[in-house]
Amino acid sequence: MRSLIDILELSAEEIADLVATAEDIIANPQKYAEACRGKKLATLFFEPSTRTRLSFEAAMYELGGQVLGFSEAASSSASKGESVSDTVKVVSCYADIIAMRHPKEGAPLVASMKADVPVINAGDGGHNHPTQTLADLLTIWREKGRFTDLTIGLCGDLKFGRTVHSLIAAMSRYANVKFVLVSPEELKLPSYVKKDILQKKGVPYAQTTDLESVMPELDVLYMTRVQRERFFNEDEYVRLKDSYILTPEKLKTAKDSLSILHPLPRVNEISVAIDDDPRACYFKQALNGKYMRMALILKLLGVEV
Ligand code: NCD
Repeated sequence: MRSLIDILELSAEEIADLVATAEDIIANPQKYAEACRGKKLATLFFEPSTRTRLSFEAAMYELGGQVLGFSEAASSSASKGESVSDTVKVVSCYADIIAMRHPKEGAPLVASMKADVPVINAGDGGHNHPTQTLADLLTIWREKGRFTDLTIGLCGDLKFGRTVHSLIAAMSRYANVKFVLVSPEELKLPSYVKKDILQKKGVPYAQTTDLESVMPELDVLYMTRVQRERFFNEDEYVRLKDSYILTPEKLKTAKDSLSILHPLPRVNEISVAIDDDPRACYFKQALNGKYMRMALILKLLGVEV
């Protein structure tokens, strides 16, 4: 039995297989409509979510399966003091697979050690978010047709942005990928990600606070929201929240082939004036998340179509 806690648990070959399955689902949705008949997905969300939870649920429904769960800690027995371990032990009796989001880093890992069914990390604190990365990867694949030879700009809250950490890990495996890390000083990429991923693998990267100066070199621009819920101090959040606002003006020097991604939700980081720009991919990205979650559920349940 296999869970997905960290994106690096999937080999590059397995990522390629998931992408191929997602492409097949897009082309032939009917073929998959009964694949998970009789199976249940439990969504255990101890933190707010729109896309991740609803796309997991839509994914299971489109596979012919069913869904149960909760969308806030307050409506679960966590509010009575139940441990994550006990919760998943019990939910294992009711569901065939679990998707869990939790504010504490490592909670889904603990859950996977206690559960009797596969556990998918749907975001753990400021740490990781592997299924968002699957959505990001399918988007890059569909837009660029490759995972190699890309200069990827990551902009915004690189410290607390869990999607950034997982995306860097995933993309660091491909040849000739370079990262440009754009953030305020206070929200720089954590040194553990730099050491354990970028430096260990010898992946080239540059750090800057100035988005406009690097715009012309980028093939992909991954914008992120400043993660308000991870700040200890509201004044600090208010001071940093509008550090980067992407506007049509700032895109003037960008490549025509640039792909603009954002895991969403957007607060202020991307002007709505960009939504109709052909380079804007963030709503497609949210749709791609559903297809990759379908592919992942099939894989972890061992369902062959
Ligand atoms: C992201 C998350 O939860 O980390 N959202 C998502 O799952 N699409 C990004 C964010 O909340 O900023």
